[in-house]
Amino acid sequence: RISKIPYEEIGAEKLSELMHAFYKRVSQHPLLIPIFPEDFTETIRKQIQFQTQYLGGPNIYTEEHGHPMMRARHMHFKITPDRAQAWLECMAEAMDEVGLDGKFREIYYKRLVMTAHHMVNAPNDHE
Ligand code: HEM
Repeated sequence: RISKIPYEEIGAEKLSELMHAFYKRVSQHPLLIPIFPEDFTETIRKQIQFQTQYLGGPNIYTEEHGHPMMRARHMHFKITPDRAQAWLECMAEAMDEVGLDGKFREIYYKRLVMTAHHMVNAPNDHE
């Protein structure tokens, strides 16, 4: 299994399940509600495209939207350390819900932690 790229390991169906479980939580999180749209349809669609290529699958995000430049695309939003933590908690719970575990989950989650911290562009309000 080590020879398989991570995208093939999770598969399109499970990735979609994960993203739906994730945004269900994001849409209910008091720290995240204010910065996200009410309708998550497009957000989920783009995130599935991005995660597909992030995990080594086809570059379907770039094909439609151009270079990811993820930090730049997040600059319109106040991404505080607390919001990064909230985002990651929603992801960990979503991974539990869809039953992602083992080495794959460990590596994927660690990578998301690094990317989430990289997105931070504002201090917490109380600081
Ligand atoms: C879009 C917040 C971390 C990938 C967005 C949007 C918000 C947001 C508010 C706009 C949603 C919309 O208008 O549809 C956050 C917060 C994060 C975070 C609070 C906490 C650190 C991440 C991470 C990744 C990521 C770690 C990738 C691993 C994306 C993608 C989009 C997006 C692909 C869609 C970009 C587009 O419009 O093309 N995020 N994000 N985000 N985020 Fe994040």
